[in-house]
Amino acid sequence: MSSGSFESLSHENRKFPPAQSFSKNAHISSLEQYSKLYAESEKNPDAFWKAQSENLKWSKPFKTILEWDEPFAKWFDGGELNASVQCLDKHKGTSVWNKTALIWEGENEDKKSLTYSELSQLTNRTASALKTLGVKKGDIVTIYMPLVPEVIAAMLACARLGAAHSVVFAGFSSQALRDRINDSQSQTVITADGVSRKGKILDLKSEVDRALQNSPTVKRVVVLKRAENTVNMTVGRDFWWHEIVPKAAECEPVACQSEDLLFTLYTSGTTGKPKGIMHSTAGYCLWTQLSTKWVFDIKAEDIYWCTADVGWVTGHSYVVYGPLQLGATVFLYEGAPNYPDWGRFWKMIQNYKITILYTAPTAIRAFMGQGEDIPNKYNLSSLRLLGSVGEPINPEAWLWYNRVIGKEKCPIVDTWWQTETGGIMISPLPGATTTKPGSCTLPLPGIFPAVVSKEGRSSKPNEGGYLIITRPWPSMARGIWGDPERFKQTYWSEHKGVYFAGDGARQDQDGYFWVMGRIDDVINVSGHRLGTAEIESALVSHEAVVEAAVVGRPDALKGQSVVAFVTVEKSWKDRADDKMIQELKSHVSKEIGALARPDEIRFTDSLPKTRSGKIMRRLLKEIATNGVAIGDTTTLEDAKVLEALSNED
Ligand code: WT7
Repeated sequence: MSSGSFESLSHENRKFPPAQSFSKNAHISSLEQYSKLYAESEKNPDAFWKAQSENLKWSKPFKTILEWDEPFAKWFDGGELNASVQCLDKHKGTSVWNKTALIWEGENEDKKSLTYSELSQLTNRTASALKTLGVKKGDIVTIYMPLVPEVIAAMLACARLGAAHSVVFAGFSSQALRDRINDSQSQTVITADGVSRKGKILDLKSEVDRALQNSPTVKRVVVLKRAENTVNMTVGRDFWWHEIVPKAAECEPVACQSEDLLFTLYTSGTTGKPKGIMHSTAGYCLWTQLSTKWVFDIKAEDIYWCTADVGWVTGHSYVVYGPLQLGATVFLYEGAPNYPDWGRFWKMIQNYKITILYTAPTAIRAFMGQGEDIPNKYNLSSLRLLGSVGEPINPEAWLWYNRVIGKEKCPIVDTWWQTETGGIMISPLPGATTTKPGSCTLPLPGIFPAVVSKEGRSSKPNEGGYLIITRPWPSMARGIWGDPERFKQTYWSEHKGVYFAGDGARQDQDGYFWVMGRIDDVINVSGHRLGTAEIESALVSHEAVVEAAVVGRPDALKGQSVVAFVTVEKSWKDRADDKMIQELKSHVSKEIGALARPDEIRFTDSLPKTRSGKIMRRLLKEIATNGVAIGDTTTLEDAKVLEALSNED
């Protein structure tokens, strides 16, 4: 693990105007109020969490607040509740019940909207249909669907039955889907016949069929008709959604224990295949609800749009569980941001009078690149709050977002968190925090992050170090599915007794956090996390490839791009040409999904290694970025390798 690049990434010498567009009447409406709440959470955590826990609807009260057997937490043990009740039934008898829950628009401008009562009915029927098929408490249900209202009903239906969902982003390949199904031993898959993207149909059902050739645990597949795509249905295994869901009855929620598994979600790590991060019921529901209330400051009249797909944790926490628990109106768009043109987002914001927009820096940079004339054609005056997530937002993109989209009147919340944290950890609060472009500012009440050196010493102001979280929090990951040792090893062994996030950061003189990105072998491409090891093993699985090393190169649009160094088998050497590069790129898409497709592949006779045989990724990173390696090469085994790789003119 290297920490060499901390300082070079800091923005400390740059001066920006403070942006102080505070939200009036925010839930937390002053710095004093925030500081008071934060201090309470620090001094008397039990009282703090007990008071917050009243935001959940319990069917049986809990006995203890936290039982901590590092690194395994039990929050609100002894309590019983159901996550779908928090999102739906809880609103019965209130003004939320007949309010719009979901407003959906498809790429071809087809539209649909559902009230909370309608979403509840759809969820109940879906749960009932799944139950009839044999889904029960404790199962894991894999969901591989486009972003349509039914995917939300499917997630909540699982929760209603006490079954965990494992949502797999529909952009992943059949191989990636198969790996996730097999790792979780899932018996049920919910999918769609297809999804239309930029006029082309992506055949989701065929991907599922391919995956299931090697997924023996799966007994049943539910298929939503979405794209009028002709698909094969396997008798006895495959069921059409429209044949089983509409006629199904109501379904009582199953009483779940606080710590019952709500979902697993696969995410990339430094080694091996993606790991199934586990989240449990009570703590996750509580924290997604609280953080949504504090950070997005949702009010009854808001039209809230988080642009993430439900295939990622952002979609889980801030499309589904957070906003629905608060009775918000959630906007959903199933399509590409540039279809039919780059005005699509702004047109929808204008048409639906969207008030809160939560998106990723990579999208902001892409819009920036198209020029401000495009957003300027639309009326964006409904917007009152903007959010950013997925990677550090560079100050230029922040300033553009603030000026061109927010018209300098919308607070920007730059939210730092991870799949493992379940919800937002560090973020400005729109009524309280003075923002600095590029900083995610201060931790939410109840969250205790810090920056430390490799040895665990607290970093000085502006000194780069490792981002850690020093106390347990309700929505923390409960483990890695099937691999508790890996959970300990990955997050809890770097620094004793604290959670290690895998990011580098610094805190400035005001205590503001500046996250600099991953310091491990995880790369962040367009806000999506990819393990270099995962892409390397995809490359090596091609018959021509002997060895591969993958590194991230800074990319103005995507944050990082994927560069692969590849050595090929002797007999393939004279075929190592452009055609082979294309073939290898497609091979990675097939193995993982288009999001992992390398941007560049370079052939090399050998890879730079240490004397102990470790690939020196740092050098390759420098070569990919600067053309030459400038760092320390004293541990390199064969200097000639570097000469051959460098393209110093
Ligand atoms: C990694 C987590 C959190 C949901 C989306 C990604 C990076 C995320 C920020 C931010 C700087 C950020 C970190 C983190 N990251 N948000 N606001 N500022 N970096 O979830 O796939 O689990 O990735 O994304 O490197 O570790 P994820």
